[in-house]
Amino acid sequence: MTKLAIIYYSSTGTVDAMARRLAATAEAAGDVEVRLRHVAEIAPQEAIDSQDAWKQHRADVADEPVATPDDLDWADVALFGSPTRYGHVTSQLQAFIDTLGPLWAQGKLADKVYAGFTASQTHHGGQESTLLNLYTSFFHFGGIVVAPGYTDPVKFADGNPYGAAKVTGATTELDENDLASLDHLVNRTLAISRRLEAGGNGASRDSA
Ligand SMILES: Cc1cc2nc3c(=O)[nH]c(=O)nc-3n(C[C@H](O)[C@H](O)[C@H](O)COP(=O)(O)O)c2cc1C
Repeated sequence: MTKLAIIYYSSTGTVDAMARRLAATAEAAGDVEVRLRHVAEIAPQEAIDSQDAWKQHRADVADEPVATPDDLDWADVALFGSPTRYGHVTSQLQAFIDTLGPLWAQGKLADKVYAGFTASQTHHGGQESTLLNLYTSFFHFGGIVVAPGYTDPVKFADGNPYGAAKVTGATTELDENDLASLDHLVNRTLAISRRLEAGGNGASRDSA
């Protein structure tokens, strides 16, 4: 079984829906164990309460497990998701990343497969810089960043070779292209991880 951790933050549900699609597609593969984990909310309650959609989403996930460093220690593949905030990841996801120092110091974040997903209100809108900013941390982990590139026709439709990205515009609902792009991201990262496990590229995790 390949162990997949999906670690994400979402204020109003878009990135949450993306994370759930990734989880469902991975689970359908039959040989993947999934931990779907949202990170802790750190925004002030009055900010959350000021937006109905934000308040509603926090209530929706209140009973679901919150990400811990152990989820990354456990994982072979980690997909991180965050809405775009001025071209960066959210402070909530960054706060989680900032708890990973002890694992990093032990080298336990290295040699895993990583990729990212994001959402923005507008086209482009900082999506690529958000993913690149996220990937900077993966490089520090010693992670194996598996970008989608243009390895599937869907990437020519969504135009984002860095990861999966949703433009919300007027609707946060995922369309056919969004779903195909997410499926491609998770299937590709899992396929590369399986090859690493099998030593199919001339090196396995154990021999690295
Ligand atoms: C503080 C803040 C900054 C944002 N910055 C951007 C941005 O730079 N570009 C953009 O297109 N959308 C921006 N947005 C919109 C969010 O990225 C968008 O609403 C988000 O992707 C929705 O994801 P969620 O439903 O998972 O919370 C911003 C939103 C907030 C609250």
